Amino acid sequence: MALVTSKEMFEKAYNGGYAIGAFNVNNMEIVQGIMEAADELRSPVILQASAGARKYAKPAYLKHLVEAAVELTDIPVVLHLDHGADFETCKDCIDGGFTSVMIDYSGHEFEENIQESKRVAEYAHERGVVVEAELGTLAGIEDAVSVEAEKAMYTDPDQVEEFVKRTGVDSLAIAIGTSHGAYKFKPGTDPKLRLDILAEVARRLPGFPIVLHGSSSVPQEYVKIINENGGALKDAIGVPEDQLREAARGAVCKINIDSDLRLGMTAGIRQHMAAYPDHFDPRQYLADGRTNVKAIVAHKIVDVLGSDHKA
Ligand code: G3H
Ligand code: 13P
Ligand code: ZN
Repeated sequence: MALVTSKEMFEKAYNGGYAIGAFNVNNMEIVQGIMEAADELRSPVILQASAGARKYAKPAYLKHLVEAAVELTDIPVVLHLDHGADFETCKDCIDGGFTSVMIDYSGHEFEENIQESKRVAEYAHERGVVVEAELGTLAGIEDAVSVEAEKAMYTDPDQVEEFVKRTGVDSLAIAIGTSHGAYKFKPGTDPKLRLDILAEVARRLPGFPIVLHGSSSVPQEYVKIINENGGALKDAIGVPEDQLREAARGAVCKINIDSDLRLGMTAGIRQHMAAYPDHFDPRQYLADGRTNVKAIVAHKIVDVLGSDHKA
């Protein structure tokens, strides 16, 4: 099967009360781990590459890795640009074979965000590519300075209809309390996503696919393995998976996960190196990292996204 856009995927996910996992890729073992899980569970999947991933692996390697993945499966696969910083980056990916791009102008003024997102949507749509944009600001624990400042970061439901109408984008990432990276919430706290904001956005945009970034749950078992095998990660907790499941039952059609895969990959490698200090063949330790990536993706598909057997 060739690469597809997320259009039909999101329609089915919205109506079926589940979400599609969008997993960040930057090397072969990560692509393989994700694809083995998605293929075995017959789940549609989004492979996404950030600017950092494109710089690290080079666009041609990423493209051909994903093409190899598609050649070996018949499940629907989307190749998506994660956090496109500007029109030029999005154009580069659209011209280079991506089937979906994100224009992330969420750090700019509302009007500038509209103009840049609209420009990308027009260019993409003429070429059969779909576009995600973002409204609101994702923050981490270090950023949450005051209640007022935190409130200002959430997506304002009053803005979403105008934004979607004027830009013509196909999906919208919103800020409801998730954040990027492995340090999301202080241990001992009880993180709560603003599912009320999500519900209000969904009410204003009936049938429209919503995206959640920063949705890793930071599995403590992997943090423990890393720290017991020479790592020095700080204590932190991630997004509670039951809240993500609830969001996926509603308007959320795409859930982004990167940090959990990084933790799984690193835990597998550290554990392997500690157990076999004489090993120096990368295939031996990378295979253990890949096994963890596969296990994490399988867990997300079945227990969080609900996208198994929807291919
Ligand atoms: O949202 C960001 C993703 O986790 C990608 O991270 O920019 O370090 O590749 P990166
Ligand atoms: P995490 O850091 O929570 O995995 O979020 C990834 C993400 O949003 C990629 O765009
Ligand atoms: Zn993100």
